[in-house]
Parts: sequence; C-alpha cells; structure tokens
Amino acid sequence: MIVVVVSSEDELEKLRHIGKICANAIQVMAKAMEPGMTTRELDLIGRQHLDAHGAQSAPEVCYEFPGATCISINEEVAHGVPGDRVIAAGDLVNIDVSASKDGYFGDTGASFGVAPVAQKTTRLLRDGKRAMTAGINQVKSGARYALIGDAVGKFAKKNGYTLIRNLASHGVGQSLHEYPEEIATWPNRHEKRLMKEGQVFTIEPFLSLGATFAEDDDEGNWTLYSEPRALTVQFEHTLVASRSGPIILTFPD
Ligand code: CO
Ligand code: CO
Repeated sequence: MIVVVVSSEDELEKLRHIGKICANAIQVMAKAMEPGMTTRELDLIGRQHLDAHGAQSAPEVCYEFPGATCISINEEVAHGVPGDRVIAAGDLVNIDVSASKDGYFGDTGASFGVAPVAQKTTRLLRDGKRAMTAGINQVKSGARYALIGDAVGKFAKKNGYTLIRNLASHGVGQSLHEYPEEIATWPNRHEKRLMKEGQVFTIEPFLSLGATFAEDDDEGNWTLYSEPRALTVQFEHTLVASRSGPIILTFPD
C-alpha cells in the first residue's frame, strides 16, 4: 500500500498540473457537447485533450476501461462506456475524467444538463455541487474523515435527496485508487480515521432524486445504473488536506 503524502512543492505542482489537465478536458467536452452527438465522439474530444497535454487516461491504463473518459447518461450513474449512444436534448450527462502524467494522477467529474432540461434537473445539478462543497468544507489535516459523509448526508437529508451509498470517494495521487482507500460521502459511524496533512483524495458524492445504490447489469459490463432508477448527479474534485484546509487540485483554467 502506497501512502501518498504530498511532501514537496514539486509533488504538489505535478498534482496540480495533471488536475488541471483533467478539469480542462471536462470543460472542453462540455462545451462541445450537443444533441445528436454520440458519447464516442464526445470521448474522442476528451482523449485528444489528454493526448495534446501528454496525459494518459487512468481508467484505460489502470483498468483496461474501453474509453478515455467515463460518460454516463440519465439512468446511468457511473462508469458509462463511450459508444453509440446519442446524446439528446434534456439528457443529464456525467463526465468523469481521470488521467496521469509524470507518475501523478488527477480525478474529477461533473454532471451537465443538455438544454432544455427540466427544472428538477437544474435544481439537482445546482445541489450536486453544493453537496460536494459541503464535503470539501470539512477537509483539514487532523479532522475526522467521517465529517465529510456527515456533512454531505446532512445536506442531502435537509434538501430531500438520497445518496448513492456504494460509490465512495477515494485516495488518489500516485495511482487512481489508493490509501486512504474508500471514503464514504454518506454518514458512516465506523469511520474513525483522521485526515493527515498532505493526504490526497477525491470528494465525489452522488446526489439523487431517489436512488441509493449503483448496480451493474449482471452481464459484467462496466456501466452502473441507479437503483431504484432515478436521476443522479456527481461532482468530483481531487484535493490535498492541509493545515489551513483543502487545497483543490482539479480547477479548470
Ligand atoms: Co472520477
Ligand atoms: Co474518483
């Protein structure tokens, strides 16, 4: 097990660099997204961005995922495989980009509505970002990891949403998934660990209009679906725990 603790400015710079490449890939893809386009075409735009900046797709390299990015639409919650599916007006599209460069990994995700979208979708998108922020605001070295799930859980409950409870946030940095392994973005009374200065991890709650679980299709395919079926959004940043709070690594330009 590799325990990634950012110990130098050089490491922080490399993490920021790959974080920005991932974040910019999402922005470029979101700008290009339009009804009639297939998710394969959208993925290619993300791949070209990664290539142009000397980065490799992490799911492809680490897990042989059949695509450079994960694109999940409506009933799909995560790990959507780019392919023939045509993006339509009104769709809720999640783009998740993780990639590596110079031995360092970044991971970021965001959901988007393809205009025109229903009002409940617009509200869910806005609140998905707020749920992530509620979690990020708990980050500080010395704080309990459990605070993240407690804060996200409180936000979801107060605003009438559910959370997917089997897709956790995770350590990242020198590989896509590493120590501190899984971090719940829902209340978890068994979580006793403390955030240590320099630990790198994601915060990526999945906020939903009713789903509590992400399930596969029993055929060994990658894509995970909401259960029960309900619109779900995910927003994800990679960050470092520091004495003065979170240092977010996945801001776009
Ligand atoms: Co991700
Ligand atoms: Co992630």
